[in-house]
Amino acid sequence: MKPNLLSWEETLFRDPDVFDLNYVPEQFDYRDEQTQSLVFAIRPALRGSKILDTVCRGPPGTGKTTSVKKVFDSLREATQQVIPIHVNCRIDASEYAVFTRIYTALTKRSPPPSGTSVKQIIDMIARYLEQEKVQPVVCLDDANYLIYENQFNKTLYPLLRMHEIFPSINFGLIIIISDPEIDLQNSLEIRVQSTFHPEVIQYPPYSAREIAGILNERVKQGLYPKVLGPELLDIIIAHVMKHGDVRLGLDLIKRSVLYAEKAARTAVIEEDIAKAVEASRDLHLEMLISSLADDERLVLRIAAELFSEETSPTTKEIMEALPDGAPKLTRVSEIFKRLDRLRLIDLEYSNQGGGRRRYVHIHEDRDMLLAILSRSE
Ligand SMILES: Nc1ncnc2c1ncn2[C@@H]1O[C@H](COP(=O)(O)OP(=O)(O)O)[C@@H](O)[C@H]1O
Ligand SMILES: [Mg+2]
Repeated sequence: MKPNLLSWEETLFRDPDVFDLNYVPEQFDYRDEQTQSLVFAIRPALRGSKILDTVCRGPPGTGKTTSVKKVFDSLREATQQVIPIHVNCRIDASEYAVFTRIYTALTKRSPPPSGTSVKQIIDMIARYLEQEKVQPVVCLDDANYLIYENQFNKTLYPLLRMHEIFPSINFGLIIIISDPEIDLQNSLEIRVQSTFHPEVIQYPPYSAREIAGILNERVKQGLYPKVLGPELLDIIIAHVMKHGDVRLGLDLIKRSVLYAEKAARTAVIEEDIAKAVEASRDLHLEMLISSLADDERLVLRIAAELFSEETSPTTKEIMEALPDGAPKLTRVSEIFKRLDRLRLIDLEYSNQGGGRRRYVHIHEDRDMLLAILSRSE
């Protein structure tokens, strides 16, 4: 009997885009309160006054970006006087990059020529705003990357001060912080603290029931009926709850269906999910590593290179192995502490053999870690 091969154009996906992490879903439940708070904060802009500066906080995958994008979409529909600008600080992780992004998003022109100073770009932005009589609302998404790179205060300060220099301009600020470890007040310089009094909106992790609701909805939209039965989705949900990140669920569904397609089946079986779980085991680590700052990745890589089954390097040995131009001692100690908190390394203190030493153990499989690190460079 001939195997039941799917022909090329046949697919189990009704709409594969639905499982993309950047997809903005039609249905967005469980975040009404947060979305209403955002609307409330932004609404003054419609009357020409300043919005309430807002900070959105919560771990990754809790709907922060999606809620802001949705509110921005409806703002665009409601008015042309207020211009929402979304800046992804993972990509634009410096003061210069953020202002360049704001400038190009507003003017739709190409970036200013290299050599243009930040101050000049800010002036160009201000002139444009005055001329066009529009109010900007900027979302600095994943602004924790600016904090890691020591660019946060530098970026915030001119945005907060703009109104004093150009009285007709009210920059509205929405700041998303996706690293629960960050103590925001502590990250602010005094000069920023005195002008920045944001509303804070919390995004708690989703419960199992909410994750199930979100994934169920996506399955209905993205897959043909009966491709992924409810008992199988339950297996995926149980797995997702171990990490609590809905993005893992989207990834697992997509992978399982691809495996079923590859095997020319018309429905997912348990084995596909097991394979998907295996393949996405690195995903969590990969996301964690891609969330690190460059210097943190460097320290982690050197630590992993020096680490073996037999010996663990000391922090001193790692410091000495860092290349020229690497971060200074105080920053490196901070990095060790952060990597330890993220459970990427374990720091072990020892007083043996005189003198206090700190040993660095690699928490994850060393080779896998190095492979992911080299991919993310
Ligand atoms: N309440 C929800 N309903 C539907 N999809 C959601 C919901 N919350 C998050 N998602 C989906 O989960 C993924 C992560 O959401 P995102 O807004 O990027 O989270 P965050 O910015 O907090 O990391 C996205 O693909 C998004 O579409
Ligand atoms: Mg986000």
